[in-house]
Amino acid sequence: MLTLRGRGPRRGNSLSNLGLIKDGAVLVRDGVIVAVGAQTQVEALPEARAAEKLDLGGRVALPGFVDSHTHLIHAASRAEEYELKIEGASYEEIARKGGGILNSVKKLRAATAEVLKKRAMAALKLFAAYGTTTVEAKSGYGLSIASEMKILGLHKELAAEQPLEVVSTFLGAHVVPAEFRKKADGAEKYIALLIDKMMPEVAEKKLAEFCDVFCDRGAFTRGQSKRILEAGKQYGLAPRLHAEQLTRTGAAQLAVEMGAASCDHLEQVNKSDIRALGKSETVATLLPGCDFHLGLKKYAPARELIEAGAIVALATDYNPGTSPTLSMPMILSLACTQLRMTAAEAIVAATINAAYALRREAQIGSLEVGKLADIGVFEVADYREIPYYFGVSHCWMTVKRGRVIHGNK
Ligand code: NIG
Ligand code: FE
Repeated sequence: MLTLRGRGPRRGNSLSNLGLIKDGAVLVRDGVIVAVGAQTQVEALPEARAAEKLDLGGRVALPGFVDSHTHLIHAASRAEEYELKIEGASYEEIARKGGGILNSVKKLRAATAEVLKKRAMAALKLFAAYGTTTVEAKSGYGLSIASEMKILGLHKELAAEQPLEVVSTFLGAHVVPAEFRKKADGAEKYIALLIDKMMPEVAEKKLAEFCDVFCDRGAFTRGQSKRILEAGKQYGLAPRLHAEQLTRTGAAQLAVEMGAASCDHLEQVNKSDIRALGKSETVATLLPGCDFHLGLKKYAPARELIEAGAIVALATDYNPGTSPTLSMPMILSLACTQLRMTAAEAIVAATINAAYALRREAQIGSLEVGKLADIGVFEVADYREIPYYFGVSHCWMTVKRGRVIHGNK
């Protein structure tokens, strides 16, 4: 059993600290862990004697994965663009021709809430089947008041109607939508709509906890991102950023300056960005699924970030354009082979550090007394086999708040 007990978030050497207990057990009451330790000790507790016992048969148990960056709600795949990319077109070329995010926006606007919900429900079932128990979800394929609210409203419904926790992020600033690109000062007019119309509604209806901006070439500038995130703060939305993915814009240092919860991607960071992240509380969330799917060779400099002391997390970035996967085990495999992270570092990055990125380190991310009984159980002999086997999931059971949500008892 990997408890990941102890102080989080983890940096540097402590990123390898899994708190491993051979033959461990947890005692759960009302979905919360009330005891954790060696099986013999936990089973000797008076309360344990009356408890229902779930024997995991010597398999590997660890905290459920916290997927801290997804674009959960979208209408369809972009398999047609995948083919264009294989033939040599770049992600940005496709976007400039009206494909990319705008392609997904068109599809989402045409889709009913019912259809979107069905697709997301199916995805959430799969997330659970791969050992994930908490999912962050971003809007950003609506880009109009009605469509953004449709997405955020679905986050709320999904959170209430299925077992995984869904953490909602407002990403109205994904790109400037097509109808505003035709106008003079279109970007400014769209930003005004975001700040004056969308944010008040998001805040009033409590539809999101975080505000995110895609700060990059073809999306929003550093200056625009700062204004949007500052406005978000006024509405109680904590900032996070898509940063330094395609080009270096200074978004990572903006995230640090603003005390953002995380900045994500980071393929293009320079030495001074790495130093700034190393000294900050802003989580450096790496998304190797994007580089893998886009066939790019330049992954984020994980080792330098770890050496600088950054709080490194890992997430799927589940989305139809750059990372159509919901498998955290696959992300761990990529982290090991492409980011040169060890299996232990990758597991810490996908659990306790990711929980910190969602400001939920007091509730999830480790198996400790007082935390939710969110557990992934893997049919492997050694935790290192979780990333070692790639493209398959050996997740045998997933437990959310003490309830089995995937696998058989
Ligand atoms: O995280 N970079 C911006 N957003 C997504 C891609 C969205 C899309 O292509 O649909 C990302 O990579
Ligand atoms: Fe993303």
